[in-house]
This record gives sequence, structure tokens and C-alpha cells, in this order.
Amino acid sequence: MSTFWSLYIAVLTLGTIIAMLWLLLSTRKGQPDEPTDETVGHTFDGIEEYDNPLPRWWFYLFLATIVFALGYLLLYPGLGNWQGLLPGYEYRDQDSKTQFSDGQQGWTSVHEWEREVANAEARYGPLFARYAAMPVEEVAKDPQALKIGARLFASNCSVCHGSDAKGAYGFPNLTDADWRWGGDAQSIKTSILAGRMGVMPALGGVLGEQGVRDVAAYVLTQLDARALPEDAKADPVAGQKTFASLCVACHGPEGKGMPILGAPDLTHPNAFIYGSSYAQLQQTIRDGRQGQMPAQQALQGNDRVHILAAYVYSLSRQEQPAESR
Ligand code: HEC
Ligand code: HEC
Repeated sequence: MSTFWSLYIAVLTLGTIIAMLWLLLSTRKGQPDEPTDETVGHTFDGIEEYDNPLPRWWFYLFLATIVFALGYLLLYPGLGNWQGLLPGYEYRDQDSKTQFSDGQQGWTSVHEWEREVANAEARYGPLFARYAAMPVEEVAKDPQALKIGARLFASNCSVCHGSDAKGAYGFPNLTDADWRWGGDAQSIKTSILAGRMGVMPALGGVLGEQGVRDVAAYVLTQLDARALPEDAKADPVAGQKTFASLCVACHGPEGKGMPILGAPDLTHPNAFIYGSSYAQLQQTIRDGRQGQMPAQQALQGNDRVHILAAYVYSLSRQEQPAESR
């Protein structure tokens, strides 16, 4: 801000405050301390106005707001280029005397944020760096890392995967042994860091309605070993042929899935994220599915993702009580 505008703002602001103070004190002068019967002397439609002093509490409250305003203007930047006296905003990082990103000093909301980030980095940076240098499998055994991981998971992942990480419709369970993209430490970390996109093509056009029913019936009865609904109107044997010529490319000859493509194991219906009923299977095959895991590298950075990967890795390897297995 140029000196002219800085002065303009300062003079205007302080001038207004001084004028208010003057107004307040000048109207009080010469007034009696207690209410009287005197009126100010004018009437509006027969209504008159008592000439009473301002209530004392009101007067002091007004004074207090003026004192507050002056204190505020002293501490915070409000008067043109005046940066305020609020301590601790000379540098982003007191120890290394690192400047704020705009090279200025004094409080601003941006400076406050930058200082908090710098403090957090100073506190957690070395800790995160230490974990980042350890293999994911090792970090997964560290109680403190798992605590941090649980917190990161709660604020970044639970919206989709659930607060217990057990998934929901369209979002995979991360606590079981079924993995779409691989459950080893490196695959889990890659899933989180780079994100994943599972594409199950819509095959309704290729197969026709009967074809969709047949292959859905094959998945249901042969791969999942479940019973076909009586009104299914499908031929699992025809479905098997379709599977062998079309689905194997991604789901493998035995339907056990292919982690490279994120094609799930079709012999574990409990891990299906789009439902495993006959109707839902048909819908998946007819219309296709596209699950998207958003990449976290730009949002979290490698060190946090490393801890998140360790946390997720630990979830499916915990000793679980027998009844919840
Ligand atoms: C081009 C590769 C590809 C082909 C061909 C393919 N799939 Fe898929 N399929 C996938 C992928 C990848 C997913 C995971 C989609 C997702 O995660 O959103 C999937 C998901 C599914 C699901 C849903 C599982 C769940 O979690 O709910 C079923 C069922 C399925 N496929 C059956 C089939 C059948 C039957 C065929 C053959 C008619 C077939 N797929 C052909 C790649 C393929
Ligand atoms: C916007 C929703 C969303 C958010 C947020 C999200 N995920 Fe995912 N995640 C998904 C979906 C959908 C998939 C399945 C992708 C597919 O269809 O293959 C997935 C897949 C995964 C997988 C691979 C699972 C497997 O079976 O291979 C891991 C690991 C994972 N997420 C971890 C995380 C972590 C850790 C976070 C938090 C940093 C997170 N996700 C945040 C939606 C989300």
C-alpha cells in the first residue's frame, strides 16, 4: 500500500474513533446525574422526549468498545501499513529465522497458518521421516505410528471406506484378506499414493439380455457355489462358455481375479462391493462398473501415505476375536 493510502486509512479510522469519543463526552457535559422530569422541548404527535442522561452502563460499555478498538488496532494490522504488535509473527520459524512467504512481518491470517504449519512440521517432521525410512511392515508394528495412521485414516479415508475401514457399497473393505489390487505392503502403498481405477466394461451390448443372465448364473452357481433363483431363466452352462471366452481375460480362468487390473476374485462374493445377488450381478455385467480410489500423493505427501499404508496393512493382519472373523 502506498504511503498516501496508508495514511488515508489510518487518519480516517482514528479520526472516526476520536469523533465518536468527542460526541459521547460532549453530549454528557452539563447533564444532571439522575433522571429528571425535563423534556428536550419538542413534540411529535403529542409524544415528548425526556432529557435524561445516558444510562451509566451504556456509557461505560461505549467507552469499553473504544478502548477495545484502540487495543485491537495496536495489536493487529488495521491502520494502513501498520503491522501490529502481536508477538511471535516476526518469522515463520523463530529458530531458523525463516521468513513468511510474502517476506513481511506481523500478524495476518496467512502468517498464522504458515506458522502453525511450520510448528507442526518441526514437531512431526522428524517423526514422519523416521517412519518413512522404515519398511511398511515394520511401521505396522509400531503402536505410535498406528495411532497416527488411525487419525489420518479417520479424517481422510473414512468418508468412503467407513470409520471401521470395513467398506460400504462401492467401497472395498480394507480389513479382510480380499484385495482387488494386491494386499502386500507395496501394493497397498501404491493404491493409496497413486490411486486406482477399476474398470469393469459394460457387456450388455455384447452379450444381450440372455447372455448377461447366463453368465451371471454361472458366476453365482459355479464360482460362488450358491443356488440360482427359481425364476432365473438362465443357462449356467452357456454362461460358462461366455466366461471362458470373455471374462477370463481379466478375472482369470478360475475367476480368481487379477490384481494388475484390479479385477476382483469372483469366488469370494462376500468381498463384492457392488452386491452379489443375482440381480446385482446382472447389473454389474450389463452396465459395467468404475470404482475410483483418489490418489493421495499430492494431498498427503509420501511420508503420511507411508504411515497410512502401514495402518491399512495392519488392519487385515490383526489378531481378531473369533466371532468377528
Ligand atoms: C476388461 C477387464 C474385465 C472384463 C473383460 C470383465 N471384467 Fe468384471 N471386473 C473388472 C474390473 C476391473 C472390476 C472391478 C470394477 C471396480 O472395482 O469398480 C470388475 C468387477 C466385476 C464384478 C463386481 C465385483 C464386485 O466387487 O462387486 C463382477 C461380478 C464381474 N466383474 C464379473 C464379470 C464377468 C461375469 C465378466 C464376463 C462377462 C467380466 N466381469 C468381464 C474387469 C473385467
Ligand atoms: C472418494 C472415496 C475414497 C476415498 C476418500 C478413499 N478411497 Fe480408497 N478406495 C476407494 C474406492 C472406490 C476403491 C476401489 C477402487 C476399485 O474399484 O478398484 C478404493 C480402494 C482402496 C484400496 C485398494 C483396496 C484393494 O482391495 O486393493 C486401498 C488400500 C485404499 N482404497 C485405501 C485408502 C486410504 C488409505 C484412503 C485415505 C487416504 C482412501 N482409500 C480414501 C474410494 C476411496
